Amino acid sequence: MNHKKRLKVVVIGGGSSYTPELVEGLIKRRHELPIKDLYLVDIESGREKLEIVGALAKRMVEKAGADIRIHLTMDRAEAIRDADFVTTQLRVGQLEARGRDERIPLKYNRIGQETTGAGGFAKALRTIPVILDICKEMEQLAPDAYLLNFTNPAGIVTEAALKYSKIRTIGLCNLPIGIKMQIGEFYGVEASRVDIEMIGINHLNWTTRILIDGVDVSESFLDKAAGAKGLTMKNISDLEWDGQFLQSLGALPCSYHRYFYMKDAMLAEQLEDLETQGTRADVVKQVEAELFELYKDPNLAIKPPQLEQRGGAYYSEVAVNLMTSIYNNKKDIQTVNVRNNGIIPFLPDEVSVEVNSIIDADGAHPIQLGKQVGPEIRGLLQLVKAYEELTVEAAVHGDLKAALQALTIHPLVGDAEIAQSILNDILEQNREYLPQFQS
Ligand code: G6P
Repeated sequence: MNHKKRLKVVVIGGGSSYTPELVEGLIKRRHELPIKDLYLVDIESGREKLEIVGALAKRMVEKAGADIRIHLTMDRAEAIRDADFVTTQLRVGQLEARGRDERIPLKYNRIGQETTGAGGFAKALRTIPVILDICKEMEQLAPDAYLLNFTNPAGIVTEAALKYSKIRTIGLCNLPIGIKMQIGEFYGVEASRVDIEMIGINHLNWTTRILIDGVDVSESFLDKAAGAKGLTMKNISDLEWDGQFLQSLGALPCSYHRYFYMKDAMLAEQLEDLETQGTRADVVKQVEAELFELYKDPNLAIKPPQLEQRGGAYYSEVAVNLMTSIYNNKKDIQTVNVRNNGIIPFLPDEVSVEVNSIIDADGAHPIQLGKQVGPEIRGLLQLVKAYEELTVEAAVHGDLKAALQALTIHPLVGDAEIAQSILNDILEQNREYLPQFQS
């Protein structure tokens, strides 16, 4: 990347309610990351939202006096042409499809979640073909650009792009930065004073080392974390970790581990919520409606704090940090989704993993782990990664055998007959989004 050049950044799914967050980040860092053109791209059915968010983005840029041109478009290819960074935050089938993903497993007494288990599987089937289309367009129109993928299930979608395209792809999630913030709050220090080492994959990563101002506090932290509140993301229930369990694990699980390690309690809560407030998609629909009402206000020219109600809060910091480090060849450490390349020795080289990486002008380079892990982490990680590999194959090739095996071995499904019923429901309820399965 030419360091003197002013940049073209493309956001696919630009009409998302999260976009003001990204715009705020880009404005704050404009002296380090000189963006000339920001393209917000959406599809026809998202036009109204794009126009509302786009108008707010323009007001934000103007208020800040930033020299960034905002473009709103439905022409994805034109936006991608000669881009430097393409970020994806799209949702195929929108919140309606998310609601279906969450409800189908619950019908069979299985966890209904947007990114993990059967819900994440369904989302992967819908999303991977669209992301690979974007990759193809990039190969033709912006072959040197980076694809920064936020689209969930981020680890699986990133793996598909790494395996099936030539585009330099890095997968991003706000969960690692969220953990740093939670630990910082726990100790009453700024997140910038916290360093962590993680091993795992997206939404299934364990924090194995914690340093505050360079001092290793990992062991004492696990003692203190027992029974503590606040170690979770906004979208996941704050059930406390048991002290003995944490000691036996020797690591801090991530928020999403509650679906695995506290499966029964989480399922009971989901079933209860279903009766009272619906699924998370229903909650998010309301939050979104309120956000869009705020965004319409012509006097609003900042990101409203209400956006922090969403689980993806602060995601822009992750995106902006990454772009800034690539552009400025910073060589700093960030936790991102990359090709394993032997970093986690018991996983295949070509799969995606979420680990600390050095970020420079050539992208993200995973770094050796300081701490290896035992069978308690290895076992679950290998199993869920095998599920992810099968899911990529199912999504790319419309492979029903891979699909059935993926769902059957997933620890949140774990039964061939139920897996088949869930798969049938997913295929039936998503027909219009799954061309790879129509033959
Ligand atoms: C977490 C995850 C994101 C996910 C979000 C959902 O923060 O890390 O990957 O998109 O939650 O939040 P929502 O408000 O849509 O439920």
